[in-house]
Amino acid sequence: MGHPKLVIQNLSKTFDKKAVFSSLSLYINQGEFVSIIGPSGCGKTTILNIIAGLEKETAGTVHIDKIPGYMLQKPLLLPWKTTLENVMLGLTLRQVSEKKARQLAYDMLKKFKLSEYANYYPHTLSGGMAQRVALLRTVLFNNQFLLMDEPFGALDALTRLSMQMWLLNLWQTYKSSVLFVTHDIWEAILLSDRIYVLSSSPATIIKEVNIDLSRPRKREFLKDKKVIAIEESLERLLLSIQ
Ligand SMILES: Nc1ncnc2c1ncn2[C@@H]1O[C@H](COP(=O)(O)OP(=O)(O)OP(=O)(O)O)[C@@H](O)[C@H]1O
Ligand SMILES: [Mg+2]
Repeated sequence: MGHPKLVIQNLSKTFDKKAVFSSLSLYINQGEFVSIIGPSGCGKTTILNIIAGLEKETAGTVHIDKIPGYMLQKPLLLPWKTTLENVMLGLTLRQVSEKKARQLAYDMLKKFKLSEYANYYPHTLSGGMAQRVALLRTVLFNNQFLLMDEPFGALDALTRLSMQMWLLNLWQTYKSSVLFVTHDIWEAILLSDRIYVLSSSPATIIKEVNIDLSRPRKREFLKDKKVIAIEESLERLLLSIQ
């Protein structure tokens, strides 16, 4: 903790004269897990795209030290490449040699218990497995700062839970900083140190919530009275702005 990994000040974005969000200021400390929740269309993906450098802000500033790893909602694995080759992409994008990339990618698959799938092609992987592969590829690109856009939205509840635990394990292993977008209030509380709540478009930050509760967190954590109180207040807030 301490020095910030990301600082956004007074960020605004307009598409075709329509303001999507205006004057957003937020930060992520080193090693922090921060989520953004907010109604559909309020600009969450646009914020991540601006941080990743894929989209240009209309006004404001974004400070990061290095391009983050970016994981999209769909795993976007290349169908003609195996699991190992897809994971390697995170490294070859960083100009790491083929031989070294193969070794590092394999070590990573082994460490996170996926090495038996190294030679599988994406269409033979389950949805959860494909997301794990995509996550490892993202982490090999940059394990210090991850942007994640509803990465588990399409998964069934059980797979989702095991992915959430897997992500927390990975986050703790690398002491990464994470900016995580989700529609799921429970998911945001389970994973985060802090949550930003956005209003509908033109969006502003209407609330910042500290989830000052112990780690490591398990599923039972969600039955804690304090957690339920936070969940209810966030739900009320989100319902009031739909
Ligand atoms: N390239 C673009 N050109 C024009 N308008 C765009 C573009 N990208 C996004 N928008 C508009 O900006 C707004 C915010 O989109 P964005 O995808 O960031 O929302 P979101 O909060 O991620 O929504 P969801 O929760 O549904 O994923 C939407 O009204 C969308 O139509
Ligand atoms: Mg989106």
